[in-house]
Amino acid sequence: MSTSPAVVVCGTVNVDTFVGVRQFPAAGETVIAEPLGSPGLGGKGANQAVAAARFLADGPAGVLLLATVGEDAPGDGALAALRDAGVDVTGVARTDELPTGSAFIMNDGAGENIIVVTSGANTVTDPAASLGHPGTDGARVLLAQGELTPEHSAALPRLADGLGARLVLNLAPVTTRDPALLAAADPLVVNESEAADVLGLPRDIGLDEVLDALATAVVERGLARSAVVTLGAHGALVIGGDSGDSDDGDSSCRTTVPSPTPAQVVDTTGAGDAFCGTLAAALAQGKGLRDAAKLAVAAGSLAVESQGAASSYATGRAVRALAAEQG
Ligand code: RIB
Repeated sequence: MSTSPAVVVCGTVNVDTFVGVRQFPAAGETVIAEPLGSPGLGGKGANQAVAAARFLADGPAGVLLLATVGEDAPGDGALAALRDAGVDVTGVARTDELPTGSAFIMNDGAGENIIVVTSGANTVTDPAASLGHPGTDGARVLLAQGELTPEHSAALPRLADGLGARLVLNLAPVTTRDPALLAAADPLVVNESEAADVLGLPRDIGLDEVLDALATAVVERGLARSAVVTLGAHGALVIGGDSGDSDDGDSSCRTTVPSPTPAQVVDTTGAGDAFCGTLAAALAQGKGLRDAAKLAVAAGSLAVESQGAASSYATGRAVRALAAEQG
């Protein structure tokens, strides 16, 4: 691996346990579930690092992950899986005071899931502590998610500045609305309900209203340097950045990037992470935001075709081929 990573990811590592249910339980209800495979690597930081590493696998520069796992067997397994995926884990610390993060994921067989996370060791991951980490020299993109504590997330702009890197912030979940953090994001990546949360709007507001409000907040008020809204099967909306340069961009600096239709939808867990990791990797390679989003929707579409989070990610070659088919 190169000593100069293209992407530094600062985020969480979990061990994911999947179960299948016919129907999600209501509050107070008990349902019988089936196990879905063995527990595997998860956490939005780890997943996005794997997606970026797969995309960059044929190139000279790779991905370094800044994270924390416990001094326990799940931590050993997660580190081994990350190494196998080609992620540089020299920035992953270990603690004997907290267990490795863990996620319990219910899938309903129709593409929906419910995820409950115990953060454990992830709660001590502090971006400020990574300033000066020798393995981060030369990074072009810092990629982070909303699973860090709000206090630690606040240090992300400082880490990005220290690296001289572009901050790609996937605010999933929306654990903070720190204006300085949002203002540094280029892009801020959110889904529809996260966009409403960021703006303090009700979640049942219509899609058009939330997209209009986000575009106004980004373009007119500088909420973030740019934004990308993931729209599931409908692809993504790019706001700001180079989106206005495209033929199909409208006058408000917005471009919709359609998604290829997956051959089958088996499990949507981690599809957003495949999107974000690929987006960050493509930006690190010098792609514009709109072209990076095209590659990212292809990665997200391929990720839903098999069970699991990081384990379901396609190779960079497959992602590029699918994106090229879309034109
Ligand atoms: O985005 C999916 C991820 O969210 C899972 O892998 C789980 O660990 C949670 O962090």
